[in-house]
This record gives sequence, C-alpha cells and structure tokens, in this order.
Amino acid sequence: MPLGDVSAFDRFARAYDRLMYAADPATLHAGLDLAERPVEVLLDVGGGSGRASRALDVPRPVVVDAARGMLREAQSHGLEAVQGDAARLPVGDESVDAVLVVDALHHMADVEGVVAAAHRALRPGGVLVIREFDPTTLRGRGIVAAERVVGFDSQFYAPGDLRRRVAAGGFTASIPDGGFGYTVAGVKPS
Ligand SMILES: C[S@@+](CC[C@H](N)C(=O)[O-])C[C@H]1O[C@@H](n2cnc3c(N)ncnc32)[C@H](O)[C@@H]1O
Repeated sequence: MPLGDVSAFDRFARAYDRLMYAADPATLHAGLDLAERPVEVLLDVGGGSGRASRALDVPRPVVVDAARGMLREAQSHGLEAVQGDAARLPVGDESVDAVLVVDALHHMADVEGVVAAAHRALRPGGVLVIREFDPTTLRGRGIVAAERVVGFDSQFYAPGDLRRRVAAGGFTASIPDGGFGYTVAGVKPS
C-alpha cells in the first residue's frame, strides 16, 4: 500500500519544526476531553516531530510515524517514537487510551484503514481525535492548492464527511471544534 507523502517528510524533517507553529493544546483537548476513561497512553499517529505530543501533558505519549527522519526529530525532543503505518499500528489490541492524528490524515492513502487501526488499538471509552483542514473554507482551498503546488498527493475531507467515516468505523463521532482547522472525535463505545 502506498504511504502517501512520507518520503517528502523524510527529506524535510530537520526543517519541519522551524517552519511550523506550536500546536494549540485547547483545540486538542476539545477532542481528547471526550474520552470516557483517563488518557494515560496516547498514540500520536503521523505524529512527525511530536509537535502535538509536546503541547500536551499526558503520562505516556508515543509518536508513530512512517518517516524515519521525523521520528529522529521526535526522539531529539525526548519522546518515545516508533516507526509504523497509521493503517497498521504497531501496538496490541485495546492497549491505548487515545489516538491523535494532527494535520496528517490528508497525507494518508487509506483513511478507512486508519480509522479501523485506531478502533483496534483503543480501549473501550478511548477516543480518536483527528485535526484537519476544511477544504470548503477559503483558507482551506488555499491549503489544497498549496499542497498540490509542492507535489503532495493530499486528500482533504469536509468535516461532515470525515465524521461519517469515523462513525462508520464503529465510533460515536462528533465535531467538537469547527472552522478552517476542525476536529472530528470518535469515542469507542464501552
Ligand atoms: C504534516 S506532518 C504532521 C506531523 C504532526 N502530526 C504535526 O502536527 O506536526 C504529516 C506526518 O504524517 C506522516 N505520515 C504520512 N502518511 C503516513 C502513514 N501512512 N503512516 C504513518 N505516518 C504517516 C508523515 O511522515 C508526516 O510526519
């Protein structure tokens, strides 16, 4: 299965943190706080350099990413980091409390596979939180165009479409934060 835009992130890993703004913990908590269990083990999937993990105060964040270069950056920040494909998470069944996918789903070719892998990995009451860009907004159209220009093979989803895909994967799905950058959250029923 193709791994989307991973090779580009391998090449640009060392510049990534210098080009990016810090993640906003409030927008991440809008989804994480829906978990029906304490969030102790969190998988930051497509987590790259660990930008989202570093914004949170979680006992055990683990970055999972397909790009070795990005994992090295995450490790340089003291984070636990494991190489893996988001659609085949390298963890046991029902072994984590939250799965976070921040600004990364649009780079992943197999969205249904990503949702299914998160469902398998989560404990009952755990939460899948996806932060994405709404391609129907003006700024979203700008992002879509910019990613095409740089040669990314990105696929963006409107919030309602992504919420339906998460619900179809067995989650109780909602949109706790809307706008250009939006959040879809899915709670795995207990
Ligand atoms: C734009 S970066 C976002 C990184 C981080 N989540 C953040 O917010 O800064 C997208 C990341 O997704 C990773 N990625 C893309 N496809 C992937 C896949 N199928 N499995 C795991 N990681 C993937 C890339 O290697 C890259 O590190």
